[in-house]
Amino acid sequence: MTSTAANSGARTAHPDHLGHVIFIAAAAAMGGFLFGYDSSVINGAVEAIRDRYDVGSAVLAQVIAIALIGCAIGAATAGRIADRIGRIRCMQISAVLFTISAVGSALPFALWDLAIWRVVGGFAIGMASVIGPAYIAEVSPPAYRGRLGSFQQAAIVIGIAVSQLVNWGLLNAAGGDQRGKLMGLEAWQVMLGVMVVPAILYGLLSFAIPESPRFLISVGKHERARKILEEVEGDKIDLDARVTEIETGMHREEKSSFKDLLGGRFFFLPIVWIGIGLSVFQQFVGINVAFYYSSTLWQSVGVDPSESFFYSFTTSIINIVGTVIAMIFVDRVGRKPLALIGSVGMVVGLALEAWAFSAHLVDGKLPATQGWVALIAAHVFVLFFALSWGVVVWVFLGEMFPNRLRAAALGVAASAQWIANWAITASFPSLADWNLSGTYVIYTIFAALSIPFVLKFVKETKGKALEEMG
Ligand code: GLC
Repeated sequence: MTSTAANSGARTAHPDHLGHVIFIAAAAAMGGFLFGYDSSVINGAVEAIRDRYDVGSAVLAQVIAIALIGCAIGAATAGRIADRIGRIRCMQISAVLFTISAVGSALPFALWDLAIWRVVGGFAIGMASVIGPAYIAEVSPPAYRGRLGSFQQAAIVIGIAVSQLVNWGLLNAAGGDQRGKLMGLEAWQVMLGVMVVPAILYGLLSFAIPESPRFLISVGKHERARKILEEVEGDKIDLDARVTEIETGMHREEKSSFKDLLGGRFFFLPIVWIGIGLSVFQQFVGINVAFYYSSTLWQSVGVDPSESFFYSFTTSIINIVGTVIAMIFVDRVGRKPLALIGSVGMVVGLALEAWAFSAHLVDGKLPATQGWVALIAAHVFVLFFALSWGVVVWVFLGEMFPNRLRAAALGVAASAQWIANWAITASFPSLADWNLSGTYVIYTIFAALSIPFVLKFVKETKGKALEEMG
């Protein structure tokens, strides 16, 4: 069977197999849930940590931001680990680290101890951010790869929403005080500790799903790879041809390493730069400012602090709605058109926010019209992000690299994303002090620049076999 024939066979998975693949992708996406949960849970605990350890904003911001450095290191290392010992083992290591970090963060004996556990948790998030998209892309039949790949982002956004709900529930149970007592601990400690539940579930689920056939072929285990390919793609395809095709595309024996990513005039291969570009644009539009600093923003719009939870939660719901829209369209219209539509919508939302925040504050609040515009524009921005760059970047990163480079290249691109995330979140307080409207102008410029970037450099991956990437 020719390679094209093998690919077209792979495009149509049997419905029975599809059910199984959905389970596999959902189990792997638990890492995304932990990614979303862990990176946002800290928001509900910040005031208590400030109070308990009697620290100023600057130190507190460092303790929070340091977890993102752990994420960058975890992402940079995950590719290597996944190529050496397999995708599943990598998930298990990440699950163990999530569990340890949840217990450690819930029971710290000093601020520096808490910071260490947050870095460990960050490392686990970084690993999960690489292994989820890579693994899902590798086990999915091409026709469904976009939708299945979106499970990762869906899990991230659900993780963010669930952490907000859990924090809100625990805060109420503790009488509205983050340091109020619950089960012998303070509420914030329970918030951080609750994560052991999804972490253990992630670890258990990883035992129920098969190793990636592409990893197995790379280590010479063809028979097992063949069985798993049959499990996920059905027996209507020519399995031997698939195995040969994957093997040829991979140059067996050679494992991807950082060195393979180098080349050309600009240090990295062009494809690696495109991955880094996607990651950096995804963060430089300021998406996480909308999540990490939401209460500050809502208060400047005039929302009472006690109600800011409600508005942060509406943002999360919009985020989920946008993600579902993307899941419906990612395999139909393709990744590139979605990214472009999203960029245009984000430019509009961000520009309106910049305009609204340029008004003079009265008693620390925006005038009514600008207040409403800011509120609506922030939701428009999150909606367009969610239906485009939120999903599309993780899907692209999982599938755009050739097999042999995937794990290492994805590691570099994801690591760049965590550094970009850190740069935006760490700089926001100072930028906002300088000029909130100007800060939004900067994010608007990045959203606008993402349009020519996608048009010129990004290639559509919809419907292609992973072996055709390069
Ligand atoms: C994407 C981003 C992440 C962000 C999330 C918000 O997953 O990578 O940084 O928090 O979207 O939905």
